[in-house]
Amino acid sequence: MLNIKKVSVVQDGNNVCADIVGFDFNAYDKDDIAEVRKYWLQYGVLRFKNAAITDEQHIAFSRHFGEFVIHPKQLQEGGHPVHKEILVIANTMKDGKPTGAMGNSEATWHTDTWFYEKPPAGAILHAVEVPPEGGDTYFLSTYLAYETLPDDLLKAVDGRQIFFQRVYDKTGKLRLGKSVPRSEDFREWEGVVHPLVRTHADTERKSLYLGGTIEGAWIVGMPLNESNELLARLWKHTTEGGPVFVQKWDRGDIMMWDNRCTMHRRDSFDPGFTRIMHRTTTSGERPI
Ligand code: OGA
Ligand code: MN
Repeated sequence: MLNIKKVSVVQDGNNVCADIVGFDFNAYDKDDIAEVRKYWLQYGVLRFKNAAITDEQHIAFSRHFGEFVIHPKQLQEGGHPVHKEILVIANTMKDGKPTGAMGNSEATWHTDTWFYEKPPAGAILHAVEVPPEGGDTYFLSTYLAYETLPDDLLKAVDGRQIFFQRVYDKTGKLRLGKSVPRSEDFREWEGVVHPLVRTHADTERKSLYLGGTIEGAWIVGMPLNESNELLARLWKHTTEGGPVFVQKWDRGDIMMWDNRCTMHRRDSFDPGFTRIMHRTTTSGERPI
């Protein structure tokens, strides 16, 4: 018999996401995983339509892509009652308390936990229950963002590092375990420094690393007003200029992204609907 590969991909017209076709979560071998890994590195964002896996399958599959990372929200409202590996993103409540992270709110463009020294390499997000409308998730490629920079911006980012404070989250809430800083200048707060242009550990391609917000970010060594101006231009270029893939969820869909070369955001949705997502996160290296 001919050895025909089970797994194949269909890329979207935008060059951002690829659909994995033919992957069977009930029966796969290491060659199938190697195929998925190859496409994950090649495309950055993968989708499995209608996979409808169990949590156990989700965890077992994720394990092939690295060590698990406990997301900070898993220690808070996003913890799963049974599986410590799973982050619950949901707007559900029990006894007056949220039983998932993020509620129904919008999430603006970000890469996950950019304020970590070693931000995660990947995330695998499974739609357990979705609203009839709203809550779409958008993806872009930060490889493309880098590769399409105009010459002056390309020069401006060359060799630069970016500082991110990690005391407050984007909504202005203190992060877990942090206390109100003494200084008014966020550059003196606890934070992390990453290269503004990072080189992917596996593909060795360069991408732009903007984290999750301009506020609380600083291009090290640059006067703050100049840094803000440059960051505003980089954000505009990245989030408004290039191709974006929009995931309109069906229950059972899985999105799997490489957090080292992509950004994502999601729309808010009507709080009258229920949206439950289960996510695993795998560990990454220190950006270089
Ligand atoms: C995430 C995230 C998007 C969504 O899981 O990191 O940003 O669609 N969620 O809920
Ligand atoms: Mn995210």
